[in-house]
Amino acid sequence: MPVGVKAVVYDRYGGPEVLRVAQIPTPAPSADQVLIKVAATSVNLSDWEGLTGSPGYARIGGLRAPRRRVLGSDIAGRVAAVGAGVTRFRVGDEVYGDNLGLLGGFAEYAVAPVAALARKPAALTFAEASTVPQAGAIALQGTARARRGQRVLINGAGGGSGSFAIQLAKRSGAHVTGVDNAGKLDFMRGVGADEVVDYTTSDFTRLEPFDLILDLVAHRSVFAYRRALAPGGRYLCVGGTVRSVLRVVTVGAALGLATGRRLGLLIAREGPAYFEPVAERCASGELRISIDRMFALEETARALSYLGEGRALGKIVVTV
Ligand SMILES: NC(=O)c1ccc[n+]([C@@H]2O[C@H](COP(=O)([O-])OP(=O)(O)OC[C@H]3O[C@@H](n4cnc5c(N)ncnc54)[C@H](OP(=O)(O)O)[C@@H]3O)[C@@H](O)[C@H]2O)c1
Repeated sequence: MPVGVKAVVYDRYGGPEVLRVAQIPTPAPSADQVLIKVAATSVNLSDWEGLTGSPGYARIGGLRAPRRRVLGSDIAGRVAAVGAGVTRFRVGDEVYGDNLGLLGGFAEYAVAPVAALARKPAALTFAEASTVPQAGAIALQGTARARRGQRVLINGAGGGSGSFAIQLAKRSGAHVTGVDNAGKLDFMRGVGADEVVDYTTSDFTRLEPFDLILDLVAHRSVFAYRRALAPGGRYLCVGGTVRSVLRVVTVGAALGLATGRRLGLLIAREGPAYFEPVAERCASGELRISIDRMFALEETARALSYLGEGRALGKIVVTV
């Protein structure tokens, strides 16, 4: 095992310019962890949030400086070493998973707990597998209540979670509206949205009422969300501004109860139980994986810029 590995590190919150390529000591797995030789790591909005330290919840565990020096949670690669207590995986196994607790995927090697990992389906490349864990788990849980004939709206639908959520909601028989910027409208139609809305010119909360709203980037008032819900409808917030998220869990919950709707936060559960079903449907060809661009490890800052500037259609992947 090399004593040092190449990684993309940062020591303070900021834009992509605070990232730099450096040598770090090879991480050592503890008893219930494995060391992974990283092949691909997909970029999530949570990486951008961890880089910039914004919204405020991205600083949990690291108020003034980042809690981890290396970002990257959605890892795919080969097991290079196993901790003393690991029986599920062996050196050489091809694995993937969401390493949200430890991060470290923008590097040649990373450690991850066994519980976060699954065996990579043979039909998926490492790059494809790396796109599924976080985005797939959010999309699966966010669309679990979508039913045939319902009107489902997905806000932020042109990104990673959104492109899976559109497909999953469509397959449950719902009529799906995707909301994102003008450059992503064709993309959302392409993955199956029945209707698309440009958030820069239209306010979706003034359209027809919906039975289910999955909001990946909440920033409006709870009164607007309440207005957009049909009686009995449900609004699920997954991410967004701190102000919007806090209002959803406080005022939103009460407002929903008083008006026969439900407004709440979806805290997506992590782990193979939540992403493997999505990966299997991708491997069988039922769901499509949309990789917009791939970047080399040394170009991680560019990969994050591409996502942060709002240009990514679906997923961005860093390959090592
Ligand atoms: N609740 C949980 O347990 C949990 C766990 C992990 C992650 N998350 C959250 O999950 C969310 C989804 O992440 P992701 O990786 O799918 O993000 P992503 O790939 O960046 O997709 C987000 C999409 O939303 C669009 N968008 C930005 N502002 C918008 C607005 N005002 N209205 C409509 N669309 C807008 C973005 O487009 P442009 O910016 O290009 O316009 C982008 O296409 C993030 O908020 C993340 O923090 C939640």
